[in-house]
Amino acid sequence: MTQEYVAGTREGHVDFINTNDLERDAQQVIPGPSYGYIQSGAGDLYTYQQNEIAFNHKLIVPHVLCDVEHPDTSYVFQGTHLTAPIIMAPVAAHKLAHARGEQASAQGVAEFGTIYTASSFASCSLEEIREAAGPQAPQWFQLYMSKDSGINERIIDMAEANGAQAIVLTADATVGGNRETDKRTGFTFPVGLPIVQEYQKGVGQTMAAVYGSAKQKLSPSDVEFIVSHSKLPVYVKGVQDAEDVQRSLESGAQGIWVTNHGGRQLDGGPAAFDSLQIVAEAVNGRAPIVFDSGVRRGQHVFKALASGADLVAIGRPVIYGLALGGATGTRQVFEFFKKELEMVMQLAGTQTIDDVHHTKLRNNLYI
Ligand code: FNR
Ligand code: LAC
Repeated sequence: MTQEYVAGTREGHVDFINTNDLERDAQQVIPGPSYGYIQSGAGDLYTYQQNEIAFNHKLIVPHVLCDVEHPDTSYVFQGTHLTAPIIMAPVAAHKLAHARGEQASAQGVAEFGTIYTASSFASCSLEEIREAAGPQAPQWFQLYMSKDSGINERIIDMAEANGAQAIVLTADATVGGNRETDKRTGFTFPVGLPIVQEYQKGVGQTMAAVYGSAKQKLSPSDVEFIVSHSKLPVYVKGVQDAEDVQRSLESGAQGIWVTNHGGRQLDGGPAAFDSLQIVAEAVNGRAPIVFDSGVRRGQHVFKALASGADLVAIGRPVIYGLALGGATGTRQVFEFFKKELEMVMQLAGTQTIDDVHHTKLRNNLYI
């Protein structure tokens, strides 16, 4: 008889100063192997660590006498009004962190007022996620393709039926990165993955097995397949170089998601922030850019927006907030980033997000 997995059920205000506190405190409430799966990265953690370090490669120059007060983080993205250009990255199996799982995180993100990206490997159904967030909440759907095109069509249809406004094709995880923490703990999913149940049950499976059950031989024809089946814009997630921008846009993708999966995939690869500079130049205004990986401060958000990102996504910190405070904790994490971003905007002399987009960062000549 497998023991019922018990995640925390806390719902309410979380006391924290920064996201390091969340990472530390969440370890007390998320069962060990699940915490290791969430918190850790691949290999020697070089890329994982570089994700945060790389933000120091560019500096924000403080400006004075700019007539700025109460900076405005609100942002209209393709007709959707956001409290800030900070969104939820797709993260698998929120029930690892909290008993209500994606229902709580989707509620908290909706209460904050930004886009929620539901993972294919969510531990709640898309109906449950939609019901928890409310009918108007802006939601995107992240797709891990099945090897079976019929299943893919049914999953895409399900996402559309539940009000997804974009499809995010994750292309940088065709096999798992070298997740040594999971090897040490023997992590297997203790919860089901209802959205992809036609091709993967989840419970009892290692991450490698879950990845193995998805489509691994991805090509531009897969983007073309999604574009032909759905009217929703398709973003390709995992793009880090100019040639991948070209491949994505030429196959019909309408958005680019720059990430290295939070350092969970190819260890020894570039920091995502360094890749953002290259990708933004290659995109050259042809498509919107989402950026994630290692964002832990408002200044990180600012730097990404000033480097070509339209939206900045957060992963792990949100899951820690979810574990510690449910929907309230989730919302507080976004409020933390908004508050820090407002402070940085004030000191940088920028009143609006548009001003941030036009800010010139200074290269750090000393690292
Ligand atoms: C992820 N990520 C991810 N990405 C994706 O496209 N589909 C997924 O199901 C998941 N699942 C997932 C689980 C966990 C536990 C983590 C930590 C990450 C990657 C995620 O979308 C994002 O790229 C990174 O999490 C961003 O880095 P930070 O903010 O976690 O440092
Ligand atoms: C991960 C997968 C689910 O990073 O994307 O664990």
